[in-house]
Amino acid sequence: MSVPAIAISNLRFAWPGGPDLLTIDAFKLEAAESLFLAGASGSGKSTLLGLIAGITPCLSGDVTVLGEVMDPDRPSRRDAIRASRLGVIFQLFNLVPYLSPLENVLLPLRFSPERASRLRAAGLSPEQEAARLLDVLGLDSDGLDRASTALSVGQQQRVAAARALLGRPGLVIADEPTSALDHDTRDAFLSLLAAECRASDAALLFVSHDRRLANRFDRMVELDTINHAAAA
Ligand SMILES: Nc1ncnc2c1ncn2[C@@H]1O[C@H](COP(=O)(O)OP(=O)(O)OP(=O)(O)O)[C@@H](O)[C@H]1O
Ligand SMILES: [Mg+2]
Repeated sequence: MSVPAIAISNLRFAWPGGPDLLTIDAFKLEAAESLFLAGASGSGKSTLLGLIAGITPCLSGDVTVLGEVMDPDRPSRRDAIRASRLGVIFQLFNLVPYLSPLENVLLPLRFSPERASRLRAAGLSPEQEAARLLDVLGLDSDGLDRASTALSVGQQQRVAAARALLGRPGLVIADEPTSALDHDTRDAFLSLLAAECRASDAALLFVSHDRRLANRFDRMVELDTINHAAAA
């Protein structure tokens, strides 16, 4: 059996001064599995992704990603794991506004020599792979040399996805923006994202409040069914 992409046990989490938000006894995402995690606005989806990505320390319970423990006492280790092994698509994308889409996609390589060496080992140049991913995700080339702030929300989502996928991370986590992308655009994007994850054997954890998207994934879980926090 291969190492799971995510294994969580006995997680308890509250923001400072807030009520218990997450109480998750056990949760697992298998290697190369794709999962749709549904939950209402404010239910703690982004908080959970932050704990999995090691952005927020998990002070009570265990979070293991691709076999690596996200140690609450070692923030720089968590950052290194995130940079080299995870692809993260944030809810607000976090593109660097003054960089072009291509420069944004290439950004993770600055923080992770492992990501760059995985590409080299596969015989790929970073620039070619970045351009391929943008093309596969459907960003036409006339958007590529603009500042990223000049892109539409749907285009920004594609750039953020290409950035997450560059260098073949073992796990991609995606926080669906709540802002209204039209249904067809999101549907097409999701198919492309899932196909690219399958092609590179990456596990995919996608969170959204829109359950209509769930049939693109191997499995769907409602956050409420795994979260036993009092406030949930
Ligand atoms: N950095 C933070 N500090 C304090 N409280 C926070 C922080 N981030 C989120 N919260 C609180 O935690 C709760 C869950 O928020 P979270 O962003 O995880 O929900 P969500 O399920 O992602 O919602 P949405 O679908 O609207 O994105 C909310 O009550 C929110 O106010
Ligand atoms: Mg959120």
